[in-house]
Amino acid sequence: MHQNLFELVDELKADPDYRHRFQFVFNDTEIKTGYIARALAQFQRTLISGNSRYDKFIRGEKGGMLNEEERRGLQIVQEKCMGCHQGALFTDNLYHNNGLDGDFSNEDFEGIFQGRFRVTRDPADLGKYKTPSLRNLFGRAPICTMDALVPSWMYWNTIPVA
Ligand code: HEC
Repeated sequence: MHQNLFELVDELKADPDYRHRFQFVFNDTEIKTGYIARALAQFQRTLISGNSRYDKFIRGEKGGMLNEEERRGLQIVQEKCMGCHQGALFTDNLYHNNGLDGDFSNEDFEGIFQGRFRVTRDPADLGKYKTPSLRNLFGRAPICTMDALVPSWMYWNTIPVA
């Protein structure tokens, strides 16, 4: 959401409709960060996309037709992306440095710009991030912008994707 959690609490508290809804659901007159996390988690559980035409195609089910252009696109994705974004959730659940940053000296926000290193303190993990799922991607801007993707594609095109 790209928003400070505590500012969000204040914004929700200022809206009588949200106050009413939170009280109804959590049986508490306070709006707490934990309730927001639970509400978001519940919302995310409704984002189910495993029955798309693509999924039906992969499972060989009725209605799973891809046209020629879509098959060509899938082939590119298989070649360039599914080394990491693989399986039903489009993730290998592993950590990779996708080459977007070369400088990891910024230690702000508990080292969030340093990637997995912030957890392991292993220099080999600098700039590594867990491969995110590509399910329900449409709502996740601005992370997924062409500005971010194009340099990455250029980088990936120079490395073998295994
Ligand atoms: C070497 C492994 C690897 C390959 C190959 C790869 N990705 Fe990723 N991808 C990642 C990682 C790791 C991230 C998370 C990066 C971050 O958090 O900074 C990511 C992030 C993304 C995101 C942002 C997702 C979000 O939640 O906003 C998109 C979109 C994406 N990749 C698409 C692609 C596409 C399209 C291809 C093929 C052209 C591809 N990736 C190839 C590892 C990979």
